Amino acid sequence: RTARFTLDPAFTVARVNPRLFGSFVEHLGRCVYTGIFEPGHPTADEAGLRQDVLDLIRELGVTTIRYPGGNFVSGYKWEDSVGPVESRPRRLDLAWRSTETNRFGLSEYIAFLKKLGPQAEPMMAINLGTRGVAEALELQEYANHPSGTALSDLRVAHGDKDPFGIRLWCLGNEMDGPWQTGHKTAEEYGRLAAETARAMRQIDNGIELVACGSSTQSMPTFAEWEAKVLAETYDLVDYISLHAYYDPSATDADSFLASAVDMESFIENVVATCDHVGARLKSKKKINLSFDEWNVWYMSRTHDQVSVLDWPEAPRLLEDNYTVTDAVVLGSLLIALLRHADRVTVACLAQLVNVIAPITTEPGGPAWRQTTFFPFAQASKHGRGEVLDVRVDSPVYETEKYGEADLLHATAVRADDGTVTVFAVNRSRTEALPLEVALNGLDLTRVTEHSALSDADPDARNTLAEPDRVAPHPVDGTRVEDGRLTAVLEPLSWNVIRLA
Ligand code: AHR
Repeated sequence: RTARFTLDPAFTVARVNPRLFGSFVEHLGRCVYTGIFEPGHPTADEAGLRQDVLDLIRELGVTTIRYPGGNFVSGYKWEDSVGPVESRPRRLDLAWRSTETNRFGLSEYIAFLKKLGPQAEPMMAINLGTRGVAEALELQEYANHPSGTALSDLRVAHGDKDPFGIRLWCLGNEMDGPWQTGHKTAEEYGRLAAETARAMRQIDNGIELVACGSSTQSMPTFAEWEAKVLAETYDLVDYISLHAYYDPSATDADSFLASAVDMESFIENVVATCDHVGARLKSKKKINLSFDEWNVWYMSRTHDQVSVLDWPEAPRLLEDNYTVTDAVVLGSLLIALLRHADRVTVACLAQLVNVIAPITTEPGGPAWRQTTFFPFAQASKHGRGEVLDVRVDSPVYETEKYGEADLLHATAVRADDGTVTVFAVNRSRTEALPLEVALNGLDLTRVTEHSALSDADPDARNTLAEPDRVAPHPVDGTRVEDGRLTAVLEPLSWNVIRLA
């Protein structure tokens, strides 16, 4: 059976916020050390930043980059990470049983963003696990106040004359999780987040603040947590966070392919909870969603890896090597975010390099693209403009976890020049899926590109030995005729169809 939908510029979701294509750098494993930062590497610049990695990050098209954690932030002392490198302390990182050398810190993070280019924007998390209001204010003053106070002058003395201008701040990380250092109840966290937000706004009311939502939709406190936290913080914050990871080894293949069903319901449930609190408060304000950690993650392997560590520096941790199937699911998760671009206005692929990442490096060696690199890069490049409302009529399949799910998952984005890009996933592992799209009121006459990521081997990966094994390929036979797009989506495929 054929899958169908209609595109009509009269029916739109929202304009895509560029922040939807954010990512995340945590002090975890080799994300920073030997990932983005490796003094002595043949491509390293004078600051120790690997230029081969920077080039790949630019190609990936990431915008906002969240830092420095993650679970790491709940033990983070920002002042350890500034000033002369030789006097920075070595610290235990409780989250990842590692030793943090602080050779890369706040100033280096800002310099890294500047080198990436103007699209790269800071998103700084503050420690509300083991610290509180005072330390948040000190960090904000150090980072953002121009000069003339003890902490802003300290930044200048450290060599950063210009303030960092950090606008987007996360009020802690995953505070609902018992694994989090300084884990809190919703009441405790809600109060602390409100106090911190109020104080930070006394320095600068122009900042944007993200309150911690749930670590996954399956947390026992889910929804109640958001409601209680927002009851305290509704007028003080701009976003509530969502985190979701999908583990291929924890579920059957068909359910894994339908992971975006969970992501979309998570988003819709958080929107409902935010709006419920807003209605109770009789507020006109809407809270937006910051999906500031999302990805495929073979999570079941992580606990064993971390629990045996004896405080090494930059160990190999969470270095998942992604398959074609993983990339198709990641594409589907991107589709889910775009389909909710009216409320999801920040999203960060977790993470950027080596640690559950689209880019992998070898110390002293090359850097290469994982399979998941491609859907992200294509969505960031072509997913800019207005999301069109897509309601699919699709054949379905059975999944253990979600029951009946559509075989087709799709969205479409109309650029300012009138061209349209359709992003589509065929979740069938065995069958090609014919697609027909009615193009109403759109002046589109031709297909400029149909690219697909799929492979005869769904487990194919890019590795050090074979870094270019998997890449998108062109698809023939896709047409626009009489206002109708017709295509065939290969089994288990991520598709980008560009129309002009
Ligand atoms: O991204 C890896 C970890 O996942 C982060 O540190 C934490 O916030 C989440 O549990």
